[in-house]
This record gives sequence, C-alpha cells and structure tokens, in this order.
Amino acid sequence: MWREHPGGGYKIPVNIIAMLLLVAVLVSTTVVSAEDVSMGPVFVKEPPNRVDFSNGTGAVVNCQARGNPQPDIIWVRSDGTAVGEVPGLRQVLPNGNLVFPPFRAEDYRQEVHAQVYSCLARSPAGSVHSRDVNVRAVVAQYYDTDVNKEYAIRGNSAILKCVVPSFVADFVKVLSWHTDQGEEFVPGDDFGII
Ligand SMILES: *[C@@H]1O[C@H](CO)[C@@H](O)[C@H](O)[C@H]1NC(C)=O
Repeated sequence: MWREHPGGGYKIPVNIIAMLLLVAVLVSTTVVSAEDVSMGPVFVKEPPNRVDFSNGTGAVVNCQARGNPQPDIIWVRSDGTAVGEVPGLRQVLPNGNLVFPPFRAEDYRQEVHAQVYSCLARSPAGSVHSRDVNVRAVVAQYYDTDVNKEYAIRGNSAILKCVVPSFVADFVKVLSWHTDQGEEFVPGDDFGII
C-alpha cells in the first residue's frame, strides 16, 4: 500500500525494493551465463533440396548456421567426403556458399554438375547435416518440340502431347500452344495444359 509520509513524499515498501533487486540480479546472471553457454550449430539458412541451373547462369547454394562457438560450414558428398574447389567449376566460399560459376559445354563434369551435396555445420559444440541438395546443371542447347496428329469425335475433348526431347524434358514447361495460322492457346476455360 502507498501511504502519505508525515514528512511528505512517498515511502516505498521494503519488499518491493527487495523484489526489484532480485529481478536485477536474475537478469544480470542470465546475460552473463548466455555468453558462457555453448550451443550446438543450428541452421539459419538451410539449402534447398533441388538446385537446377544452366551453364549460362551458374548457381550459388547458400548455407548458414549459428551457434556458440560459431560453427564452420563444410560441404560433403553423400558418402560423407568433403568437397573441395574445382578451378572454374566449383568454389566453396568461407561464408558457406557453394558456387557453380557459368561454364562452357565442354567443361561439364558429372561429378561436379550432377551430384548430391549436403551442408555440414560443425563446431566443438556439435554438428548438423542439412538435407540432401540435388544439384543438376544443364547445358543450354538447341531443341525442338513435336506434336503428333490426334483425332477426336466432334464435340469431344482431344489430348495433344507436346513431345520434348528427353535431354531437356526435365527442365521444360509447356506454357502455350500455337497453330500455323498464328492462333495462340493459353490455359483457360476450354483449354488446359496437363
Ligand atoms: C553454355 O553452353 C552453350 C552451348 O554450348 C554455349 O553456347 C554458351 O556459350 C555456354 N555458356 C557459357 C557461359 O559458356
């Protein structure tokens, strides 16, 4: 309770002061001990499961972790061996990024450009493995699509298949269809792409 003191001013109950002191002591202990407590690595940015890119663009795969002490980032293959730098084709940056620069078609290397990687964050306090990262590079090259004739009974639906060469099929998405007369079909009410 607050009471008017005969001499004016307010008298703060002793138990409130004691409580404030206790809170102050608790807060300072927490702050001090947080610096000492070690913490195993935790991902701040875990790489995606799939990274597809073309030889003309290259790719950067990001991996970041925190912990106390700050963990080191290394990249490993599925057999657990560490991956290193391949000049001009693969770099492991100190910040944890795995970099695939653009490359010429003749420099394609399967063990670099079609590989399962994972990011390992390691410190004396422990280590964590990221999910598998399936890296696939494709060399940009000319391709053509085909379509075969299909017949349907008048008034019924027909399905036309866009034939895409298998070496690019995984990377190609059909967006629209066109006729020789310049008509364009994009997915809508009476037309769809499956
Ligand atoms: C990627 O490959 C294509 C096809 O061989 C080539 O024309 C292009 O120059 C290459 N890109 C780079 C950055 O070398």
